[in-house]
Amino acid sequence: MSDKSMLRALRGEAVWPPPLWLMRQAGRYLPEFRALRAQADFITRCMTPDIATEITLQPIRRFGMDGAILFSDILILPWAMGQSLEFVESVGPVLTPIRSRQELERLQPDRVPETTAPVMETLRRLRRELPPATTLIGFAGSPFTVACYMVEGGGSKEFAETRRMAYADPDLFGSLIDLLVGSTARMLCEQIESGAEAVMLFDSWSGLLPPSQFQRWVIEPTRRIVQSVRARHPHVPLIGFPRLAGTMLGGYVDSTGINGVGLDSAVNLEVAKDLVRPDVALQGNLDPFALLTGGKALTEQALAVREALRGRAHIFNLGHGVLPQTPPEHVAELVATVRQG
Ligand code: CP3
Repeated sequence: MSDKSMLRALRGEAVWPPPLWLMRQAGRYLPEFRALRAQADFITRCMTPDIATEITLQPIRRFGMDGAILFSDILILPWAMGQSLEFVESVGPVLTPIRSRQELERLQPDRVPETTAPVMETLRRLRRELPPATTLIGFAGSPFTVACYMVEGGGSKEFAETRRMAYADPDLFGSLIDLLVGSTARMLCEQIESGAEAVMLFDSWSGLLPPSQFQRWVIEPTRRIVQSVRARHPHVPLIGFPRLAGTMLGGYVDSTGINGVGLDSAVNLEVAKDLVRPDVALQGNLDPFALLTGGKALTEQALAVREALRGRAHIFNLGHGVLPQTPPEHVAELVATVRQG
């Protein structure tokens, strides 16, 4: 068994001080990231092992987090199946929407292993290059959140088309979710076989759904992915992040069998401790705006999160990604604060 601090926490151990990493720790707030950004577009950066390895390592070199998350994106999976994808400056991802069975059937999930081969090469390199105490984290989007972008054709506040399709044509929406369950589980297994030591499912939009829909389109697909990855890799922990799921958190953890759960900043940690079984690691949930602000607000908020989860299996993180305007010195301050005695 590995004694890396993050993996110990994912086995249910209360490690003190808690291990730490940050969602979007590799990103636009770092000048060295922005320098590489000029060299190649986003998808090329994800698909070039030299660049993706370097970007993943940048925050580790500067700040020494306990976890390193692969530099890639949740939308690489639909792209690898043949859906057109572009990241447009100040717009975000733009995809050709999938709204019919015909469009769905044009996707080629069999192409994913070949298309994502460079991502697997990046993971192999990272395992060689990371410091021995750092845990390498692989990831995917959850089927529901990836389906949101695939159906909508990009980002959205409400994902109205997607939520409408889920009610109006549950057979079609269910086929899309099934396709994503299978391809996501296969891709996560491949990431593990290439060196990922833990894998995370990002479900940024699960909190848009009412409980019955959450059960069907979030819990059930996540449960199937956990089961299928665990059947092949019984000792590799999975982390789920059902953002804004509120009180549905408890049911999510119990029904999916996940090893760790990401908490957004709206979650009251006292409530989370009651809702979530004690052997499941809690990950989160500092407000990214406290990190952006720095100073006293950052120190107070960070110590409050750490203290609230003392005695529990906890992986310190933000409640969502690092904001691009965040001064890098604040990240250094945060790491020092979380690790102080
Ligand atoms: O966390 C990390 O540093 C690892 C890499 C990673 C990225 N995206 C890099 C990225 C991870 C884990 C993601 C997850 C992701 N991607 C999510 C789930 C988490 C969340 O933020 O809710 C979602 C919804 C996406 C889809 C996506 N990718 C959007 C909506 C955008 C555009 C908006 C934005 O935040 O820039 C992206 C682009 C993206 N993914 C960037 C990065 C570093 C910015 C690209 C650039 O401008 O260079």
